[in-house]
Amino acid sequence: MIILGIETSCDETAAAIIEGKDVGTQNLVFVRSNVVSSQIEIHKKYGGVVPEVAAREHVLNILPVVNEALEKAGIKREKAAEKIDAIAVTVGPGLITSLIVGIETAKTLSYVWNIPLIAINHIEGHIYANFIDRFPISDFRFPILVLTVSGGHTMLVLMAGHGKYKVIGDTRDDAAGEAFDKAAKLLNIGYPGGPAIAAEAAKFPISDFRFPIKSSIVNRQSSISLPRPMINSSDYDFSFSGLKTALLYKLKKDKMWKKKVPEYCAEFQQAVIDVLIAKTIKAARDFKVKTVMLSGGVAANQELRKQMKKKIESQITNYHRLGGIPPTINIIRWRDKLQIPDLKYTTDNAAMIAAAGYFRALKKDFIPWQKIKVDPNLELTVICPPLPPRRDWRGRGN
Ligand code: KG4
Ligand code: ZN
Repeated sequence: MIILGIETSCDETAAAIIEGKDVGTQNLVFVRSNVVSSQIEIHKKYGGVVPEVAAREHVLNILPVVNEALEKAGIKREKAAEKIDAIAVTVGPGLITSLIVGIETAKTLSYVWNIPLIAINHIEGHIYANFIDRFPISDFRFPILVLTVSGGHTMLVLMAGHGKYKVIGDTRDDAAGEAFDKAAKLLNIGYPGGPAIAAEAAKFPISDFRFPIKSSIVNRQSSISLPRPMINSSDYDFSFSGLKTALLYKLKKDKMWKKKVPEYCAEFQQAVIDVLIAKTIKAARDFKVKTVMLSGGVAANQELRKQMKKKIESQITNYHRLGGIPPTINIIRWRDKLQIPDLKYTTDNAAMIAAAGYFRALKKDFIPWQKIKVDPNLELTVICPPLPPRRDWRGRGN
């Protein structure tokens, strides 16, 4: 099955063609093209995304981007209606005017080509980045716990099956990516903040860091210590705005801070990572999950990827070494059970939207072009509208 994905929820205009294949017991996703036109350079001078500017750029870029995705996948425009089985498009959450550009484009193509349309939640797309170009994917066993960390969200999601989500933890204020962006602004190192902080942090010897066991234990090798908000709370929620404020006060008191930017970045990054890892491990144990996944732009962070893997592996090795019985039998299966998307699919792209679309298409979760609508605050657990009467869409790939 060939799916065209379209994503315009924030500042990336993206289109992709994926091929979903049913190979007996598994459904695999292969990317045929993945085109992302980034507006980072445009928004950099404002220190963040300007919604009106973003929407105008999407309008200019969307058709060239879709066209390039078709060309790269070797699909001639005049053959598109024949070759493509469905169009998956992000309907929310995101910037309303940006989302509308993608939706109207997808709607028009669905109408003209007479191809079914699939509404995708942006967060769901991030989750399905984990299902791209993976072979074999037999390691994905439900229930899955997904830590989804982006510029707009920090969530722990339990996935009971394809398209079945329960949000068990959320941020009470700033998202992790937002915290990185705001901290980078305070440190005057540019936008987007995540990669800028990661690059500065890499200059500070990382071996100085340890995993904290309690919130009071911080990086002892560094002269700077920031809090690990909510690390020991009994729920699975997050809070990062206090961390940013703590950084602000530290900088105000430290006249020499400009000379210590890498150290500040390393400590800030570690504070975020410590909380993300601690909460993920807690939830994974409590809910006895079989697979842990990372998703979202912050999942591009190399330290987070490395440390999460190390932490999960050490959970198993420690129990074996001490001759103990693991707290749950499932924990033993955690080795190699951490799934991290390929770097190029962590930040916003349309291949992940198309991948999510493929799994929805398998369930014929289509929506008529007349009914698709934007929802800037779309919740992950909202189910797509019921299947319309058959005349409203062209059911294919039965
Ligand atoms: O998923 P994404 O591309 O867009 C949203 O859906 O928000 O995520 C963007 C966020 C930004 O806040 C950016 O600073 C952060 O992801 N980010 C990173 C890294 N690369 C991007 N954060 C930490 N480390 C990175 N390497
Ligand atoms: Zn995103």
